[in-house]
Amino acid sequence: MIASLCYACQQKAERVDITTNKNLYPNNDARLAVLMRKMDKDMRDIKKAIENGEALPTYSEDYLEIKTAKSTDPSVKTEAFALMADNLLEQLDKLQNTAPESLEAQYLLTINACLACHVTYCPGPVKRIEKLKLLNLASLDAVDWSEK
Ligand code: HEC
Repeated sequence: MIASLCYACQQKAERVDITTNKNLYPNNDARLAVLMRKMDKDMRDIKKAIENGEALPTYSEDYLEIKTAKSTDPSVKTEAFALMADNLLEQLDKLQNTAPESLEAQYLLTINACLACHVTYCPGPVKRIEKLKLLNLASLDAVDWSEK
């Protein structure tokens, strides 16, 4: 399982020979990886907007590419992957249209949708994604966030 994970999906400890194998670098530029980095940055902006009580920035149409974008490891593109990608898009859509009182809960569901896919297909960034959670949401956090 771990052996089939792409570079971006591995824990730091498993990246030791990255400097000796430069063939691994271009992998990191798969369309899906680029898209993920953009989503990660956008989620940070959305988190900031919620914390500051500002209007949410709208997410990019590019996100619709999640299911079709080329991934570093083509084997991740399973039926379950597609379902989890759909779930993320649905949660993001709700986030854009949610009432102010359910904004924080909906934000957590969105981050949860990131994590649902990541624990299975790309555990490396899980800790980074966990940091996207809002601090005052601790009481709503019934989810087991531990890495598998
Ligand atoms: C449907 C599955 C799925 C969902 C949902 C998902 N990811 Fe990913 N993510 C992946 C896969 C697979 C990769 C590895 C991309 C590659 O290299 O091809 C990845 C890579 C990443 C990376 C590392 C990118 C790099 O190359 O440095 C980050 C950060 C990331 N995702 C954040 C997020 C965030 C934030 C969300 C939610 C807004 C999210 N992901 C939702 C599957 C998913």
